[in-house]
Amino acid sequence: MAWKSIGIFDSGVGGLTVLREIMHLLPQEDTLYFGDTARVPYGTKSPETVARYADEIASFLVKRDIKLLVVACNTASSVALPLLNSHFSIPVVGVIEPGARRAVQVTRSGKIGVIGTAGTIGSSAYTRAIKRLKPDAEVLTCACPLFVPLAEEGWTDNNVARLTAEIYLSGLKESPIDTLVLGCTHYPLLKKIIAEVMGPAVTLVDSAEETALTVKEILVERAELRPSSESGNHSYYVSDIPAGFVRVGGRFLGEKLGDVFQVSLEEDEVSP
Ligand code: DGL
Repeated sequence: MAWKSIGIFDSGVGGLTVLREIMHLLPQEDTLYFGDTARVPYGTKSPETVARYADEIASFLVKRDIKLLVVACNTASSVALPLLNSHFSIPVVGVIEPGARRAVQVTRSGKIGVIGTAGTIGSSAYTRAIKRLKPDAEVLTCACPLFVPLAEEGWTDNNVARLTAEIYLSGLKESPIDTLVLGCTHYPLLKKIIAEVMGPAVTLVDSAEETALTVKEILVERAELRPSSESGNHSYYVSDIPAGFVRVGGRFLGEKLGDVFQVSLEEDEVSP
């Protein structure tokens, strides 16, 4: 039996934090990762534009016969899931529902903070997902756009990162939240500083782990999980020249990346 791959995409390198968890939980699975490096960032763009980009990338990956699609970008997950679900018949997994589920499991007080890009926070997708699971939850949100370039620059543990976190998080720190969702692919890289600023009474929730669990559950249910004796291969596609993705990506993935190919989405062509 020929086993199909799992398709994963993000606006750039950020989704590699989700891929890392999938590779860790399901090392037997082949994956195809797409980073839309020519059009990153998504967090500052309109919902309509992000949904269109997501749809184009999903078409590219679905043509490569994937069995499941992971939208490993909070911004795209917050605005594009209904469109993707209406266009494609394979299961589509976003990062918002899994993150919301984990937050609801972890909170004791029901007061939950969410941080993300301007697009994710503006969509209120986390607030809706959390309230669907726990209608009496109180959700406080805050956009932290500068965390994205800080994480990409590797400035995750210096004075600039600390001061930025202190300023962004001051309102949430004074609020009674006991749980904070890191609602952006880049924020796990700033976990140490965010934890220091928020203090030990606040538990940080990272959607990536819970998303990997959701992927496993769906594949088990559909009898599409590869046998654990297999070992997965990982391919990477990007929409701009690969150099920047390769340079920064290793830090997000936690290991060296395999071959990265540049792709033209208009022509649906792959060049080495
Ligand atoms: N990957 C995006 C997210 O999780 C962050 C980077 C961007 O703005 O494109 O929302």
